[in-house]
Amino acid sequence: MDAIVRAAAGMEGEATVPGDKSISHRALIFAALAQGRCRIEGLSTGADVRSTASCLRQLGVRIDADGTVHGVGLHGLRAPEAPLDCGNSGTTMRLLAGVLAGSGVGGTLDGDESLRRRPMARVIDPLRAMGAACETTDGRAPLHFAPGRPLHGVDHVLPIASAQVKSALLLAGLWAKGTTSVREPSLSRDHTERMLAAFGASITKTTIHRTDSLRAPATLHVPGDPSSAAFLLGAALLVPGGSVTVRHVDGNPTRTGLLDVLDRMGARITRTPRGEAAGDPVIDCTARHGGTLHATVVEPHEIPALVDEVPLLAALATQAHGTTEIRGAGELRVKESDRLAAIAAGLTALGADIEEQEDGLRIHGPTPLRGATVDSHGDHRIAMSLAVAGLIASGETTIRGAEWVDISFPGFFSLLGGLCRGAVRLRG
Ligand code: S3P
Repeated sequence: MDAIVRAAAGMEGEATVPGDKSISHRALIFAALAQGRCRIEGLSTGADVRSTASCLRQLGVRIDADGTVHGVGLHGLRAPEAPLDCGNSGTTMRLLAGVLAGSGVGGTLDGDESLRRRPMARVIDPLRAMGAACETTDGRAPLHFAPGRPLHGVDHVLPIASAQVKSALLLAGLWAKGTTSVREPSLSRDHTERMLAAFGASITKTTIHRTDSLRAPATLHVPGDPSSAAFLLGAALLVPGGSVTVRHVDGNPTRTGLLDVLDRMGARITRTPRGEAAGDPVIDCTARHGGTLHATVVEPHEIPALVDEVPLLAALATQAHGTTEIRGAGELRVKESDRLAAIAAGLTALGADIEEQEDGLRIHGPTPLRGATVDSHGDHRIAMSLAVAGLIASGETTIRGAEWVDISFPGFFSLLGGLCRGAVRLRG
């Protein structure tokens, strides 16, 4: 499917976005492993979270259409009869690797072409060090776990901050004898730590002890995904006269790095506290066009809190005065696509002045953009970042592979088109 984006004459309105993808995966998995029933409200509607739900169903967990999970307890999973299909979702695969290894049910985790290319040794090696028996294809999926291997705790030092790897090890640590600790160079999103503590696991920061049982809350509210809200906020910053408020967004500081960087670039963004959900602060966020955006340097330690927003930041930086440098972002090369290459190619085609580096980007701005045909590279966040750029490009921008937005943000293009008075349409 193609999305056709024209220069927007304005943007105005209020929106909500699908539930946070990271919290949704965890809510489903933790509720499945807990005793009793948990109703999850505001679950992400994206395909990635549907992949997690269908894998859990194959493991014997009942999940109703209204988001009610019937927990089976830490020892109640059933061995799957067929490989578990994680689709495009790295979070599903890595978190469930921890569950299959820890619970001892065994099974195979597989995924689509993109997921089969992504590195899994970073999660399998430490699980093996805990005692898991896992076979891979050169460190990649499919991943085969032998059943019935009891694990023991380890103290693992992550060379690169990764919430997915950290979470896999902490999940395995629920069953492992003794204590499992994970240390990372800078703090990645901490939803697993916060939520496992709320579910009654014996966990302090990133150290977990073998746990007898988890208790689910009767209801769990998932706040809106800041990584999805970012595209609407970014669009309002670029479109002349633009203004948008996104309500009920997760405001966990490990997720709001983009807002912090945009603040120092001079963007007009306000955050209004709106209580709490899933143990996280919730905010309403308003972005307004106006003023001058200044280039900035994003340092490696800042990357974890905005890792999924780097392609969008690159699009925004094409309109900032000076050279924006994004450093220490080599991890983007092993996401759903090689995001450094994909966003550099797309923005260059639109007329941006952008240099791709081994582990980052240098963007010189401001540059006028002009419409062109660009590719999503099968990556939801590349498709949405290029759509935002297309809103200020002259002529028409065609985004090939627009359907990939369904991974995290179904309905993105119609929502954006509604806020931008019809500057967006879908074809095919
Ligand atoms: C996620 C962690 C991040 C992020 C991904 C979701 C999570 O990946 O890019 O979209 O939910 O734990 P890494 O753990 O590989 O950094």
